[in-house]
Amino acid sequence: MNPSLVWTSRARGPLHGAAVIPGDKSVSHRAIMLAAIAQGRSRITGFLEGEDTRATAAAFAQMGVWIETPSPSERIVHGVGLRGLRAPQASIDCGNAGTGMRLLAGLLAGQAFDSELRGDASLSRRPMRRVIEPLVSMGAEIESDEGALPPLRIRGGHSLAGISCTPAVASAQVKSAILLAALYAHGTTVVREVRPTRDYTERMLEAFGWPIEFGSGWARLAGGHALAATDVVVPADFSSAAFFLVAATITPGSSLLLRSVGINPRRTGLLEVLRLMGADITEINPVVRGGELLADLQVRHAALRGIDVPEALVADMIDEFPALFVAASVAAGTTRIRGAAELRVKESDRLAMMARGLATLGIEVDESPDGATITPGTLGAGRVESAGDHRIAMAFAVAGLVSTGIVTINDCANVATSFPGFDVLANGCGFDIRVA
Ligand code: S3P
Repeated sequence: MNPSLVWTSRARGPLHGAAVIPGDKSVSHRAIMLAAIAQGRSRITGFLEGEDTRATAAAFAQMGVWIETPSPSERIVHGVGLRGLRAPQASIDCGNAGTGMRLLAGLLAGQAFDSELRGDASLSRRPMRRVIEPLVSMGAEIESDEGALPPLRIRGGHSLAGISCTPAVASAQVKSAILLAALYAHGTTVVREVRPTRDYTERMLEAFGWPIEFGSGWARLAGGHALAATDVVVPADFSSAAFFLVAATITPGSSLLLRSVGINPRRTGLLEVLRLMGADITEINPVVRGGELLADLQVRHAALRGIDVPEALVADMIDEFPALFVAASVAAGTTRIRGAAELRVKESDRLAMMARGLATLGIEVDESPDGATITPGTLGAGRVESAGDHRIAMAFAVAGLVSTGIVTINDCANVATSFPGFDVLANGCGFDIRVA
C-alpha cells in the first residue's frame, strides 16, 4: 500500500459508454467464509479481487484451506468442513475490513483453537463491542483492547449455546457474526433487527444447504448441520456502481450503462433516494442469478432537487452517503440526512470527512450527531482529505467532475480495498483522474 497516493480529479465532459463494475464485497467475503467451512469444492465467480476480500481469503489459507485462483475474479475453495480449520500460526490480519473482522469473530468463536484478529489503523479504531457482547452471551471468550477495540483475542474450546437477541444497531455484520457463531452452537439462535439489513449471509447459508428461516428483519437457525459446497456467482457491487450513478447523474450530457449490478433491495436505498431527487436511472434486463437480483442500470444526466432523506432508507444505503453528499451539493435546494450516526464509525467518520471536504470546495454543510444538512452551491477547487477511506476518496473524485477547478484528494491507496482499478475504469467513461 502507498499511503501517499494523491489523486486529482477535474471536469472533462459527459460520461459515456458501458462499465463492468467489480464484484460485490459483502458477497465475496461471505462466499470465501462459507465455502471454506463447507464440505467439498466451491467455485466463486465474479469474486472481488480487492484488498479486503483477499485478506479474508488469506485468513482461511492460514487456517489450512486450499484456495485456487484460476483468474483474478475466480476462486476455487477446497472446503474443510465445519470442524476442519486448523489453528493459525500467527495473528490474522483483516486489513481494512470491518466485515472480515466481525464475521470472522463469529466464525472463530466456536472453534477448538485460539485465534487473534487484527487490522490496519482504521480498523483498529472501529467498535467491536457490538459483536463481542452477543458472542460472549453465546459462551465465547473474547478479549479486546481497551474500549472494545481490535485486536480481538478469541479463546477456543468453548461450547456455544444459541441465543435470541435484538442487537441495538441495525448491522448486517453483527447479525452475520451471530449467525456464523450459531452454526457451532447448541440449540436455536434467533436474531431480530431494529431495521432490516442486507441478508446475504442468510441467503448464502441456504444456498450451502444449511436449514435456516429468515424474513425481513429476522433470521433463525440451529446448530448441528453441515454446509455442502456450491458454486457462487457474485454480482457487481451496487456500492461501487453508486459512484458512477451519481457521476453520470450530475455531469451534463452523460449516458452510462452499468452491467449486471446486484440490486438486492437491502442495498439499493440510494437508487430510491436519487429517484426522489429527480434522477433518470432505468433497470434493464433484470435477472435472478445465484439467488440474487441483478440488472443493467442505464443512467442519464438529470437535474436534481434536494430532499429530506427518508430515515427508513438509511440502512439500505449505509455505504452510499459519501456519494449522496456530492449529489446533494449540486442539487437545487437543501438535503437533510438524519438517523445516520453509524456513518461516524465506518472506515472513517464519514459525516465529518464529507462535511470538511465539501466545505473546502465551497459547499456549506451543517453536521449534526446523526446526520448533516447540505446547502448546495458551486463546487470549486481544493485539496481534501480522504482519511484513507476508499469511499470518501471516490466520492471526491466524482465531485471533481463538476468542479470549477481541480479537486486534489489525499491518501487514495485504500480505494483498492473495495474497487481496484476505479481510476482506470472511471477515466475510460470520461473522468479525468490523475496521480498527482
Ligand atoms: C456490510 C455491512 C455494513 C456495510 C459494510 C458491509 C456487510 O456494515 O457498511 O460495508 O457486508 O455485512 P454494518 O453491518 O456495520 O452496517
